[in-house]
Amino acid sequence: METWPKTPVDIDLNELCFGCGKNNPIGLKLDFKREGKTARAEFTPTEFYQGWAEIVHGGIICSLLDEAMAYAAMFEGMHCITAKMETRIKRPARVGELLIITSSVTKRSRKLIETKASITLKNGTPVAEGKSSQFVVKSEPEKRQAKGGHEKPKMERSLVLIKPDAMQRGLAGTILARLEKGEMKLVGLKMLHLDEALAKRHYAVHQAKPFFSNLVSYITSAPIIAAVFEGENTIQTIRDKMGSTDPAEAKPGTIRGDFGLDIERNSVHSSDSVETAEEEVKLFFPEEEILSY
Ligand code: CMP
Repeated sequence: METWPKTPVDIDLNELCFGCGKNNPIGLKLDFKREGKTARAEFTPTEFYQGWAEIVHGGIICSLLDEAMAYAAMFEGMHCITAKMETRIKRPARVGELLIITSSVTKRSRKLIETKASITLKNGTPVAEGKSSQFVVKSEPEKRQAKGGHEKPKMERSLVLIKPDAMQRGLAGTILARLEKGEMKLVGLKMLHLDEALAKRHYAVHQAKPFFSNLVSYITSAPIIAAVFEGENTIQTIRDKMGSTDPAEAKPGTIRGDFGLDIERNSVHSSDSVETAEEEVKLFFPEEEILSY
């Protein structure tokens, strides 16, 4: 039960739930969140949902429970196949009621994960509950390890900028320390005062945005630190550590959540995809300035 995945902190279950696909008129919007070790979603049944639920005798509710239980297993970083599932509808859901789905892992062995899920009203009244056993299917890194690690994991690089607001508040060391903690390796580092031309090239994708000129003036207003981190899944790992672009939305414990001041003075920048990273790293670091050790 060691790690919850770094990426699916907020999952739109709408995209994933059986019978509730993106283009489905049901229109359920479910935000799946992790709270400690418990995953939670809130949703409100619509007219369509109610009609369908009645027709299929709670089939939708069962499929929500099923997805929730699968997620509990997935949150443990495992790929699983449902072996056995039991669900019980305790009370019909009514249009407009706010329903809460909660799921968690109850038992885990090397081959099997057991999960449970429940749907309640906000006041705790039970609507449905379920439990499942799921076979563990090896994840890609585990498969590689089982093969004796012959296949090399794909290494990614990401460019990180520590922005003027963080530099001026003496946060560079703290931020680098947070990024260094874990599997990623620092392979490039420099302090520089960006000129307008480089700032404009770096932020070229935002050229048409109303905040572009402020962004350029801000990033060129004081020295910054540019760094390159390398490792497996580095881009997503750094994005998770940094939190949402707007510090007001970033979670506590993330760099922007803890130190960011506002959407412009958000302390840090990092590459958002493998392709962007390649371009951004090249812009700041010639290959000989990236070191391996
Ligand atoms: P960064 O990751 O450096 O990439 C682009 C930057 O634009 C982003 O962080 C924010 O600092 C900034 N930004 C994004 N949206 C806005 C906005 N609405 N107003 C001002 N700045 C923004």
